[in-house]
Amino acid sequence: MNTKINFAGIEMKNPVTVASGTFGYGREYAEFFDLGKLGAIITKGTSLKPRSGNKPSRVCETASGMLNSIGLQNPGVEYFAKNDLPFLRKFDTKIIVNACGSSIDEYVELCKILNNLDIDGVELNVSCPNVKEGCMAFGSTYEGGKRVTSEVRKVLNKPLIVKLTPNVTDIASIAKGVEEGGADAVSLINTPLAMKIDIYKRRPVLANNTGGLSGPAIKPIAVRMVYQVSQAVNIPIMGLGGIVSGEDAIEFMLAGATTVSIGAGNFIDPYISVKTVEGIEEYMRKCNIEDINDIIGKVEMN
Ligand SMILES: Cc1cc2nc3c(=O)[nH]c(=O)nc-3n(C[C@H](O)[C@H](O)[C@H](O)COP(=O)(O)O)c2cc1C
Repeated sequence: MNTKINFAGIEMKNPVTVASGTFGYGREYAEFFDLGKLGAIITKGTSLKPRSGNKPSRVCETASGMLNSIGLQNPGVEYFAKNDLPFLRKFDTKIIVNACGSSIDEYVELCKILNNLDIDGVELNVSCPNVKEGCMAFGSTYEGGKRVTSEVRKVLNKPLIVKLTPNVTDIASIAKGVEEGGADAVSLINTPLAMKIDIYKRRPVLANNTGGLSGPAIKPIAVRMVYQVSQAVNIPIMGLGGIVSGEDAIEFMLAGATTVSIGAGNFIDPYISVKTVEGIEEYMRKCNIEDINDIIGKVEMN
């Protein structure tokens, strides 16, 4: 049985990765399992300089998933390179850095530094809904997506994955812009923008008023978007949004994803990513699939 995948030039032992911002820099989860069981780890959003993020409250639960408005809190790329990367490198897995910035110059400067680090790829976050400047602003239009991608492409010599926002009317056109800008792959979706109101205080629960929704509730939206993007571009797709099982992962792969990522599911069960790897293998055995690559994009539309 083969579960190996080549994703935009990154050789992974299986298609399962963990999503940015839900796995920190791996330390907490390494207490539970060997991180080498994963295809890749995607780091917390990392910026040129340290960021303190938004004011609390920054997370809350709803009846159908969690909201977050962390606002890209992180220690900055220098700290990451010195303190977190050496730890992550102890494990036999690929390391993809989720890169965020407030301006194109900042993305470019950051990627120049990332070029010199021992990492396997960069996921450009142009889709965070929780910061005022940059980020989602770049990823919300065809022109913006193309421009930030092509500027980064000029300096980055590692595989470039661009992470897309669902907070747009036509995600396929943005994926197209990003492909034309020179991305090696796209990942989708980041969180749909949402809000919860405390009816007794008559105020939003999050200090930032709005936040991104994640968890199983958003999966059908993400599957639809992965399918639409797969019909529009020729670069590979990493699918995410609400994955909590091998079956969920397979659904994304049938829709056109080459790899998948698990986000909020990690908070429900720290073992969920390894269970997803096992669930994929179980599905392959049940359905007599020899090579996982054979199911990518194999949904038959009605
Ligand atoms: C607490 C939290 C922090 C996140 N931080 C980031 C981030 O730094 N960069 C990023 O690209 N996405 C971030 N995300 C979005 C996730 O990576 C993922 O795209 C989203 O949650 C949908 O997947 P899920 O439903 O499996 O969680 C964050 C999500 C959560 C819940």
